[in-house]
Amino acid sequence: MPPSKTRALVTGAGAGLGRVVALELAKRGCTVALVDIDERALQATSALLRELDATSLSIRVDLTAESAAKDVLEQVAKSWGGVDILINNAAFGGIQPFFEMTVTFWQKTLAINVTALAMLTAAAGEIMKRQGSGRIVNITSPASRMAIPNYAAYSASKAAVDSITRASAIALAPFGVTVNSVAPGMMDTEMQRITEADLARIEGRNDIDAFLAERTRRVPLGRRAEIREVAATVLWLAIDAPSYVTAERLNVSGGLDRD
Ligand SMILES: NC(=O)c1ccc[n+]([C@@H]2O[C@H](COP(=O)([O-])OP(=O)(O)OC[C@H]3O[C@@H](n4cnc5c(N)ncnc54)[C@H](O)[C@@H]3O)[C@@H](O)[C@H]2O)c1
Repeated sequence: MPPSKTRALVTGAGAGLGRVVALELAKRGCTVALVDIDERALQATSALLRELDATSLSIRVDLTAESAAKDVLEQVAKSWGGVDILINNAAFGGIQPFFEMTVTFWQKTLAINVTALAMLTAAAGEIMKRQGSGRIVNITSPASRMAIPNYAAYSASKAAVDSITRASAIALAPFGVTVNSVAPGMMDTEMQRITEADLARIEGRNDIDAFLAERTRRVPLGRRAEIREVAATVLWLAIDAPSYVTAERLNVSGGLDRD
């Protein structure tokens, strides 16, 4: 029996962009599996979905654990019989001075931003292959194409996301499954607040407001991104885009990334 509702899974659904994407998917009638490492944040998102009378499933898990991706997809498939949309959004955006880089920090960054994303794509891809349909949207960053020494691990991790997007789009194309990515500009989320505060400290900038304003001025449109603008782009790729769009990277960065 075909599912009556589109089944979506959002990683990092407890906060920031992931929470808004989960809410927007619910508003479009999807059932949404909310995945996050932070229990309280998950509960808060789940409560917001309840207010919309949406069906959701909360899965608290550290996505960097060995079998996390498989376990999560198994749980969703068991509950709802499959999965139609995967939003690979969870990430760690840490700053570390270039000449003080550590193996632990790189591993922490790559484990969630790259390895977990790849494993989730493969696990969801297996199910979508069998269904003959599905859409995967990865969240990348303009940083993937910038040279930011104190942000090297994060930037490299997002370059890897771009690579995985292309490879998985090709792997899944024969099965009617699309894989695309969205590159958001600066959104004022918790991750961004911590990242910019750390960056200011490392660069010896004591006037944080001046530092933030300077960074905002670099955006050709002259302002930061609203989370809902980025979420709308994710929703477009996940639901509305023609099914011929795959292996694409969509910039939502106010002109910051022009490639
Ligand atoms: N905020 C920005 O300006 C900006 C800009 C470009 C790209 N991005 C990207 O957008 C996406 C969302 O960013 P955000 O700013 O909303 O971040 P955020 O930190 O506000 O939210 C990320 C969520 O992911 C969860 N998470 C982190 N590690 C996890 C793990 N190991 N297992 C399960 N969940 C985990 C966190 O608990 C959190 O709820 C990320 O991929 C980020 O790299 C953000």
